[in-house]
Amino acid sequence: MKKKLKVLALFDAATATTIDQDFSAELKTEDWKTEANVLAALGKLGHTTEHLAIFDDLDLVRQKPQSFEPDVIFNLADQFKNNRAFDQNIVSFLEMHGLPFTGCGSTGLTLCKHKGISKKILGYHRIRVPDFVTIARGKGIARPKRLKFPILVKPLKEEASYGISQASFVETDEQFKERVQFIHEKYDHDVIAEEYIAGRELYVSVLGNQRLEAFPIRELVFKEVPPDEPKIATYKAKWDEEYRKRWGLQNQFAEGLDPAVAWKIQQTCKRIYRLLTIDGYARLDLRLTPNNEVYFIEANPNPILAEDEDFAQSALKANLPYPELIDRIVRLGLTTVRD
Ligand SMILES: Nc1ncnc2c1ncn2[C@@H]1O[C@H](COP(=O)(O)OP(=O)(O)O)[C@@H](O)[C@H]1O
Ligand SMILES: [Mg+2]
Repeated sequence: MKKKLKVLALFDAATATTIDQDFSAELKTEDWKTEANVLAALGKLGHTTEHLAIFDDLDLVRQKPQSFEPDVIFNLADQFKNNRAFDQNIVSFLEMHGLPFTGCGSTGLTLCKHKGISKKILGYHRIRVPDFVTIARGKGIARPKRLKFPILVKPLKEEASYGISQASFVETDEQFKERVQFIHEKYDHDVIAEEYIAGRELYVSVLGNQRLEAFPIRELVFKEVPPDEPKIATYKAKWDEEYRKRWGLQNQFAEGLDPAVAWKIQQTCKRIYRLLTIDGYARLDLRLTPNNEVYFIEANPNPILAEDEDFAQSALKANLPYPELIDRIVRLGLTTVRD
């Protein structure tokens, strides 16, 4: 029997919190599904668990471990003051205080968050990435001639498809300029504009620190989208159930992949994981072209861990039921060695 642990589950909250605040009402809501799923699993595993949610007060993260003395922090805090750019800073704070935590360290989070830097690193190591340009706010907006249409215009450091809609797909210089301006002004974000890679949309879940395991490949299928239309996991495509129904969007296991291709994809994902210094667990977003070329789109360290999401579903398919998955993540958090 493995040793039972003291686990402090760390969440983010949308408004100011106190150290022993009761979140039982929040934990019953859809918004806190991941947090509730993880707490339930930790309970089932027999770990002693307390939780803390933070808004803008890191001092709570220093104080709480002094009284509770956890073996490890289960990190589900991915924003600070409602800003998703600061997940890496929360983790830096844990690192500075020598507090072991689950998921990815600050370097991996930082490299993956920046969609340009991650692609430069991978391109250098000959992983296929779409050709791209980054355009900072306040800079002139001209498309470099080498960048070929169609192009997808995205916020440089966002997640969950914030700022991505069908209008992100541009085919003329006018549309390009308009969309870049829109992201600069309305979203207040720098831009990455990438060549659009047509192909299947694949998600690969990877678990581990040194020894890595890649789980069965998931796919977002666009059943009712006409063949010549762009297929993009826009904000609506991810979060709007009505929209998903209308266009036949479904997350499922990738069917009919040549086993050799599937194996190659998983090996490539493990390489990517290491090159981007990810540890803990991550989900990689890829495109597979009709010629079976694998393109890296994005790495998501600390992906959504809800029981019904792609990461846990892939793990389950690999015979890792949810509580065991959560336990593996906890143990990985205890043993990871970071610089
Ligand atoms: N270069 C690209 N070619 C084709 N589709 C893309 C490209 N970049 C992004 N997409 C589509 O947009 C979705 C969201 O892009 P992504 O970079 O993963 O942003 P987010 O971090 O918000 O998930 C992808 O899942 C994919 O469907
Ligand atoms: Mg993505």
